[in-house]
Amino acid sequence: MQIVILDTLEQVAEYGAARFIDLLAKKPDAALGLATGSTPIQLYKTLIRHFEQGDVSFRDARTFNLDEYLGLSGDHPQSYRHFMNTQLFDHIDIDRSQTRVPDGAAEDPLAACDAYEDAIREAGGIDLQLLGIGRNGHIGFNEPSSSLASRTRVKTLTPDTVKANQRFFKPDEFQPNLAMTMGIGTIMEARQILLLATGEGKAEAVREAVEGPVAARCPASILQMHPRATLVLDREAAQGLR
Ligand code: F6R
Repeated sequence: MQIVILDTLEQVAEYGAARFIDLLAKKPDAALGLATGSTPIQLYKTLIRHFEQGDVSFRDARTFNLDEYLGLSGDHPQSYRHFMNTQLFDHIDIDRSQTRVPDGAAEDPLAACDAYEDAIREAGGIDLQLLGIGRNGHIGFNEPSSSLASRTRVKTLTPDTVKANQRFFKPDEFQPNLAMTMGIGTIMEARQILLLATGEGKAEAVREAVEGPVAARCPASILQMHPRATLVLDREAAQGLR
């Protein structure tokens, strides 16, 4: 596990963007694993800027997002599909048919999860998986106690995670407490993993992931076992490390 500590959020985003740009220069049709949430927003802005400057093209890239709320269709403003379209895909030259987000409106969610696994396999696996980390150490929506060998499936979100994401929903709006998520086993098969964490709110989870035991109580701790996992932290997120 490689740890990179930088001064600012912008530097974290620039470092992360460079990893994607380098990969696409070497492998234009790379399969990119993407994440939502507040952490990658700056990274996506940085990628858009580099795209506009002509530094990178996504024309042949394929993407797979980590997760989606169950019960929200892709046109719902709080769906992760909508997030990806507005934060990244609408602004770059990617072929929209090559972007995948689990289908939160699937009639048969369990079959849709299996089909997602098949699609990743058919794409040859994920080359670079981007992750954020929950305050409780979750990656994707793999909450503490998730099986470290899990595959894409439906998960119940913990009350803490529901609360943390409440800020994105209007007070009277339906907020799902179920999600479809790549499993920890799925994530670990990515050839490279890049986890970004910023802000002191993530310091405890980062400490547990890096210095704690590999344990289901902190799903991100499994990254200690990945041969090419990099954690990119700002100083606040790194403050608990010894
Ligand atoms: C998002 C995801 C989540 C977030 C995590 C951190 O697709 O899978 O694991 O990465 O909840 O969220 P933020 O970045 O909003 O703190």
